[in-house]
Amino acid sequence: MVAIIVHGGAGTIRNEDRIPKVIVGVREAVLAGWRELKRGSALDAVEEAVKALEDNPLFNAGTGSVLTLDGRVEMDAAIMRGKTLEAGAVAGIWGVKNPISVARKVMERTDHVLLIGEGALKFARLLGFEEYDPVTEERLRQWEELRKKLLEKGETRHWKRLNELIKEYPELLRSTVGAVAFDGEEIVAGTSTGGVFLKVFGRVGDTPIIGGGTYANEVAGASCTGLGEVAIKLALAKSATDFVRLGMNAQAASDAAISLATKYFGRDTMGIIMVDSSGNVGFAKNTRHMSHAFMMEGMKEPEAGV
Ligand code: GLY
Repeated sequence: MVAIIVHGGAGTIRNEDRIPKVIVGVREAVLAGWRELKRGSALDAVEEAVKALEDNPLFNAGTGSVLTLDGRVEMDAAIMRGKTLEAGAVAGIWGVKNPISVARKVMERTDHVLLIGEGALKFARLLGFEEYDPVTEERLRQWEELRKKLLEKGETRHWKRLNELIKEYPELLRSTVGAVAFDGEEIVAGTSTGGVFLKVFGRVGDTPIIGGGTYANEVAGASCTGLGEVAIKLALAKSATDFVRLGMNAQAASDAAISLATKYFGRDTMGIIMVDSSGNVGFAKNTRHMSHAFMMEGMKEPEAGV
């Protein structure tokens, strides 16, 4: 029973015209992953699905990543294999096209789990990842607008009470991407993001934190999206897989994980996708939207929505 699910981020899509485009994006990504899954590898499926989302400038990962308070790109990504608990991640990397592929190399070519900043970039170059600028004109314009808007109001809540700030300025929370797949043998989870708009330089979210935003073991896999600090504090991706271990399926576990996030940190904070080892998919959110798409054994077309 094979299955794959992807997300294109939790939050509020203010411009409704974007919704059909976002749905096309997640559909294309799940199909890219599905092709690999049919060849037998959940690992390749997750990498390809996440790459498709990183390459789509609509999403906040790879090309189209959001900018830090001082106008730089600092991307995070992680990938994890459920069978062996091997994991690789990068945080605060720039100058590469596909952080998820660098994360995979960290997993495969080192005994480390997480490389950061300059070191992660040096490692990527050593392995042949070419120089690439992921900043888009649209993100630069949004960065200038948001900075002006927040500075005019004298906002300093980037440092404290970020979850309140995000309720007032939902455009700060942009679309992290992720994928979870089961190939009949193994569950793999992967996540990639530019983080939160105007984040403080050096800030690392949940995405590359194994157990926080990304986790897979032999019973389930999970990829989170939303306010990273929430997922880190709840070890949400790992907690969600624990719910499966205790007997829930992927959907019930996704619902339970999001209830936990809402209970502690309120609404408009989190989304999650999951796959369990019976080949069930699950997804849940406490935000207005979370673009997602999935394919399971027997389906001819992906099911997609926000
Ligand atoms: N969930 C992505 C982030 O907070 O960085």
